[in-house]
Amino acid sequence: MKKLEQIYEGKAKRVYATDDPQIVIVDYKDDATAFNGLKKGTITGKGVVNNKVSNHFFRLLGSKGIPTHFVEQLSERETAVKRVEILPIEVIVRNRAAGSFSKRMGVAEGTELSSVILEYSYKNDALGDPFINSYYIRALNLATDAEMEQVKNYSLRINDILREYLWNLGIELIDFKLEFGRCDGKVILADEISPDTCRFWDRATGKKLDKDRFRQDLGEVEEAYREIIRRLMGE
Ligand code: TMP
Ligand code: ASP
Repeated sequence: MKKLEQIYEGKAKRVYATDDPQIVIVDYKDDATAFNGLKKGTITGKGVVNNKVSNHFFRLLGSKGIPTHFVEQLSERETAVKRVEILPIEVIVRNRAAGSFSKRMGVAEGTELSSVILEYSYKNDALGDPFINSYYIRALNLATDAEMEQVKNYSLRINDILREYLWNLGIELIDFKLEFGRCDGKVILADEISPDTCRFWDRATGKKLDKDRFRQDLGEVEEAYREIIRRLMGE
């Protein structure tokens, strides 16, 4: 497979075309942003960690029957994935109160939730990814009802799989963000699942092992990313 021209640059990744029209290459950067790009920085080695961690989770989810865009890891920072049309919807799954939920609802961070929360936002940086619901999605033709049924079912199943997997590694999965894409008429999991897109708390100490260390200036940011790789892959 040959890497061709760059077709997209996001805040944390670059995407390249290849000589196969069905495949693109994702290249993970060390650049970090938060609060819709207001805070900028670099987390050394983040791209390598996120590439490996995301591929690890995508392989696990694939083995449990979740269709994903993952094809093959090409290097420390690069992965070949299926070309998809990304649904302009960010799906957030919450198991415990934190982040924007705590702020919006006035519920202290760490508060247990009586049941899982599924939340949608419109993927649009200029608008600050506004909160939406299924009526917005239907009215604006962002996705069909059939697609959203799959998005919902996959998201809840992914939560069950990742929660149990991480729990056994001493990590509590607090919340995370997913993106899905259309490929050959089907909905598949796309984008990444990494310490950038999840909240991981150490079960024993409650220590944050994710991008909140960068967002909140907690220090030991690189160490937290490395700790996730160590727990998941023993590296
Ligand atoms: P939030 O509490 O800030 O809404 O974030 C919920 C989860 O989604 C958290 O694990 C971080 C992740 N997330 C992203 O991956 N990208 C984003 O742009 C935002 C706002 C959150
Ligand atoms: N990556 C997002 C941004 O810059 C938000 C975040 O992860 O906090 O805006």
